[in-house]
Amino acid sequence: MKKGNVLIKNAAELVTCSGFQAKKGKEMNDLHVIPQGAVVMEEGIIKAVGTTEEILKNYNESDYEVIDATGKAVLPGFVDSHTHFVFGGYRAEEFSWRLRGDSYMEIMERGGGIINSVRATKEATKEELHRVGKKRLDSMLSFGVTTVEGKSGYGLDYDTEIKQLEVMDTLNQEHPIDIVKTFLGAHAVPKDYKGREDEFIDYLIEQVLPTVAERNLAEFCDIFCEKNVFSVEQSRRLLIKAKEMGMQVKLHADEIVQLGGAELAAELGAVSADHLLQASDQGIADMAKAGVVATLLPATAFSLREHYARGRYMIDQGCAVALASDLNPGSCFTESIPLVFALATLYMKMSIEEAVTALTINGAAAVGRADQIGSIDVGKQGDVIILEFPSYKYIPYHIAVSTVEKVVKKGVLVFD
Ligand code: NIG
Ligand code: FE
Repeated sequence: MKKGNVLIKNAAELVTCSGFQAKKGKEMNDLHVIPQGAVVMEEGIIKAVGTTEEILKNYNESDYEVIDATGKAVLPGFVDSHTHFVFGGYRAEEFSWRLRGDSYMEIMERGGGIINSVRATKEATKEELHRVGKKRLDSMLSFGVTTVEGKSGYGLDYDTEIKQLEVMDTLNQEHPIDIVKTFLGAHAVPKDYKGREDEFIDYLIEQVLPTVAERNLAEFCDIFCEKNVFSVEQSRRLLIKAKEMGMQVKLHADEIVQLGGAELAAELGAVSADHLLQASDQGIADMAKAGVVATLLPATAFSLREHYARGRYMIDQGCAVALASDLNPGSCFTESIPLVFALATLYMKMSIEEAVTALTINGAAAVGRADQIGSIDVGKQGDVIILEFPSYKYIPYHIAVSTVEKVVKKGVLVFD
């Protein structure tokens, strides 16, 4: 029997999320569920999808590792399309300051926040970053994540940004989870560049981006477009250069202040704009029209005690919405997919079906891979999860607890 040959049969629900591009608006409710479903994978690629009866007529069980999913739901693996999982140090102290009433931006403005993690990440060796990165990936896998986006951005200088991206490269080769890398050199303004933000953007464009692009160290370029961080004009300048160098773009947009990040994402044809707590009606309409995925990060709003992004409104306006954890050491130290799911359904008024779409095919679209992952369709990578329960409806119902029992990655059982 070849590696990556698996046949999963008798699934109470085979939730295929079928599709090869982002689902917008009403389409987000279509999960394409096959009762008593089965899926066949050969050498890690999905070969056939159907009812168990149909599949067993055409495929011989002895050719495969067989998983009997009686009484269980089977879904595509989750795609966590926005994380900052490679970082040094921790900021527990800042969390306690926030409990006391300090805001995230106040802490940042007095020299804490992201800059604190930058210091610790500069000091950390590659081995140390690799060790903590692996631990975080293992945890994500247990939540059913089979592809994760990871950002640099705790270096803000050539050496450390490259170090973070190289650590992700190594982890990508070693770990079952696929890692999509994003260059976020413009995550904060380094101390030496305070008041000279334009020069810092020049530095990134001239000194760092060319290496990232030439060495293919990241597929995406991202920026923290926010009041007192980088302006819309600075963001436009950096992202246009990144596109010229062959990268796709994303933005941390309209998180704390309504700055026009959503509008900029649409103007630039960004693959996604993320956070969007303050996005304007116009920005949302522009994103829907331009096909920019709106990546919402409710665990961050929860952790910062902000109001939630307008997920319901965005979907009703025809946007494609993705959900992600935003795992990072400051605003949101969690990789908990069940928490994200609970918040999206309970507080952002998304249906359970929309939340499943947002974490599968739309997450895949947010990392530019909707043609390869995010659904159980013939020809796609064999990345699926098996729940302990018979329906996807149990995911938010078992509040903030993982319902994932098994994970199959590229046709191999990697978590059980
Ligand atoms: O997505 N908003 C900016 N960046 C991260 C937070 C990073 C940090 O605080 O370390 C975010 O929330
Ligand atoms: Fe982020």
